[in-house]
Amino acid sequence: MKKKILVIEGDGIGKEVVPQAVKVLKKVAEKFGHEFEFDNALMGHCAIEATGEPLPEETIEKGRKFDAILFGAVGDPKYDNDPTLKVRPEQGLLKIRKTFELFANVRPIKLYDELLGASSLKPEVLSGSDIVFFRELVGGIYFGERARDDNKAHDTMEYSVSEVERIARKAFEAAMLRRKKVTSVDKANVLDCSRLWRETVTKVAEEYPEVELNHMYVDNAAMQLIKDPTQFDVVVTGNMFGDILTDEASQIAGSMGMLASASMGNEIALYEPIHGSAPDIAGQGIANPLAAILSAQMMLTLSFGMKDEADAIDNAVAQVLKDGYRGPDIKDAATPEELVVGTDAMGDLVVERV
Ligand code: IPM
Ligand code: MN
Repeated sequence: MKKKILVIEGDGIGKEVVPQAVKVLKKVAEKFGHEFEFDNALMGHCAIEATGEPLPEETIEKGRKFDAILFGAVGDPKYDNDPTLKVRPEQGLLKIRKTFELFANVRPIKLYDELLGASSLKPEVLSGSDIVFFRELVGGIYFGERARDDNKAHDTMEYSVSEVERIARKAFEAAMLRRKKVTSVDKANVLDCSRLWRETVTKVAEEYPEVELNHMYVDNAAMQLIKDPTQFDVVVTGNMFGDILTDEASQIAGSMGMLASASMGNEIALYEPIHGSAPDIAGQGIANPLAAILSAQMMLTLSFGMKDEADAIDNAVAQVLKDGYRGPDIKDAATPEELVVGTDAMGDLVVERV
């Protein structure tokens, strides 16, 4: 098969981990006789520096011509404490999500047995956890009207029935292929948006009689996730709750450096590790590339329907961990120093095993 992949490394460790995923994809192409064509585009702080825009028109135009987008991260500490900066790297990511209507953000929380000791949670609590989050990605408070004057600011949360229906359907369809359980997370005891959310998800559930649906308030969900993560199968929730809960849930898998994601709409999809630009470790060659590599794996499965190829990456990652290799983020007290590897070496270990 011939496929065109747009590569957006972005900022910080995005520039380090994405090339590892590209390396792995090139190996897959060679092994399975595919032709993957790569091209690069700018987004985030690097794009602002180069063009003044966090998402240049050129990146969008390129995106329209490609089969999938592989993305790293955006963000730079320069913006963190300076409210006078109106143009921000994150706007690029929000705009690309909106431009391509990438409404479904799929974030699997996959726990490798080898990493049971890497989490700060007890192994007996974690063991058997396997969750997929469906986070609504182009609505809610992220995209509502907002404004600020001197002493006041507001952000608006808004959801329509059709926005909730389409993400709910994705979640139920995924549940049908898994353990047939959906937990919908909201704050319906306070928010009208959440009451509409709950009502709509309940209606969609009627189309999937085999799937068991339960509703949970977001505060309780935050607690249940670390108390008893094995109770969850598919979780569906709005944009901001999904953002927060998936960072929390990453600790079930041991590290943010292990979590991949897919942002899907009706056409092109974007694949990205959930970890962000991590300025604190950027440029040191120690970032864990496995989340980026597993994002490439999701691309093969979801955009290209390449099951054997995706399995090859999955198995290679599992084998690297079985062989004892760890990045600094997932090592534990028992990891021998010589098996702690940096970004590039970790990429090579996966390539060798594909
Ligand atoms: C994520 C990130 C983004 C978000 C930021 C960078 C805008 O945290 O993809 O989870 O909040 O959606
Ligand atoms: Mn986030």
